Amino acid sequence: MVKEDFGPHFEWGVSSAAFQTEGAWDADGKGPSIWDVFTNRKGKIKGAQHACTACNFYYGYQQDIAWVRKLNIPNFRFSIAWPRVFPKGVGKPNLKGLDFYNRVVDGCLEQGITPWVTLYHWDLPQALQEKGGWTNRDILSWMEEYAGYVVSRLGDRVKRWMVLNEPAVFTGAGYFFGVHAPGLTGVRNFFPAAHHAALAMGRIGRLIRSEVQNGEVGTTFSCSSIHPASSRRRDVDAAIRADALINRLFIEPVLGLGYPTADLKALAAIEKYMQAEDEKALPFDFDFIGIQNYTREVVASSPFVPYLQARLVPAIKRKVPAITAMGWEVFPPAIYEMIKKFSSYPNIPKLIVTENGAAFADTVLDGQVKDAERKQYLIDHLAQVLRAKQDGLNVHGYFVWTLTDNFEWAEGYHARFGLVHVDFDTQQRIVKDSGKWYRTFLSR
Ligand code: FCB
Repeated sequence: MVKEDFGPHFEWGVSSAAFQTEGAWDADGKGPSIWDVFTNRKGKIKGAQHACTACNFYYGYQQDIAWVRKLNIPNFRFSIAWPRVFPKGVGKPNLKGLDFYNRVVDGCLEQGITPWVTLYHWDLPQALQEKGGWTNRDILSWMEEYAGYVVSRLGDRVKRWMVLNEPAVFTGAGYFFGVHAPGLTGVRNFFPAAHHAALAMGRIGRLIRSEVQNGEVGTTFSCSSIHPASSRRRDVDAAIRADALINRLFIEPVLGLGYPTADLKALAAIEKYMQAEDEKALPFDFDFIGIQNYTREVVASSPFVPYLQARLVPAIKRKVPAITAMGWEVFPPAIYEMIKKFSSYPNIPKLIVTENGAAFADTVLDGQVKDAERKQYLIDHLAQVLRAKQDGLNVHGYFVWTLTDNFEWAEGYHARFGLVHVDFDTQQRIVKDSGKWYRTFLSR
């Protein structure tokens, strides 16, 4: 497999996110985000770790952008920390915060790297959470104010925009299970948060399109291929419900198909938060859809689980041959299945895999990180992406998650996903074998 197999226009990249890398949590007028607050709550993050410094990207961004170039990666996806630009969420912008992103964008362009910017990768200003965050419909106008400002300042140089990162994860983990910020639980938080996130995609998508000339507007979705635990009817039905929740809840309203209530009846309760004009406001014709896949899920029927009546059978219990530090099964066909699934929707101009990668317990030995498992993971997943491409499916790009090891949300720092190893005490970087492999792959 060589790069050329994917054709001359295939987009190659690497992805990252502000909260996971920047650190400098209160520098230069930045306001606190929900993640700054959540990481301080007892028992929420493994080892009570926090992201006050993380990868020090705020101060060391030039070196890390230089790593992107050294690895021959033409596209760098990063996100903007909303509370850096609007410390209170709305109102007076913080010029120093915006200036940081001006420098990051210019830094990319100077090194010949195309910046891809995500507007919301989970770090909501805490001031807005105090007004309900995503459960409050005003989030639409708050985000419009933030996005309008950022896009009008960076849109002359940034042409690739993504509205949200994985709405299913930040609303599910953050507003239903309470395992991510802001740590809220239950359907009375989840349903309004989900509906407002769905509306935000169209609302902000339209705004970007009207502001940015020659831009491409996208948004990104998490997805896992869902396999029933057995061929018994009840497990197959459970898998259909889980698929509606995990893979379809956000893409279908965007495509004008409405929420997948026919396959997951519990979703009908979302309608309580619908206003008259919403049905028309949900759809938006994105230029590209980012899909982010790491694994598959095996689903069994479970009458005790409310709403879903289904449960995920953990990889560890299934005795799978390979498992990552996240406890996720290594299952390369999943990415092919997801590209196929999303390609079967009409009206998606193109799919880009905006995240794929793996965490393993790396060790540094004589200044080297021989991460054979990660390298193999990437090769095997790319082979599946190529298979999808050769089958004529709609995939046009691939971004590795992620450049450097970083703060993996509730997992803290043990889950290392980087192509470049980070010593979090010294901030020293060492390119891993997987990074060297990607560099060689992209060099031809
Ligand atoms: C995705 C997130 C990203 C990272 C990877 C491992 O769900 O978008 O920030 O944490 O998982």
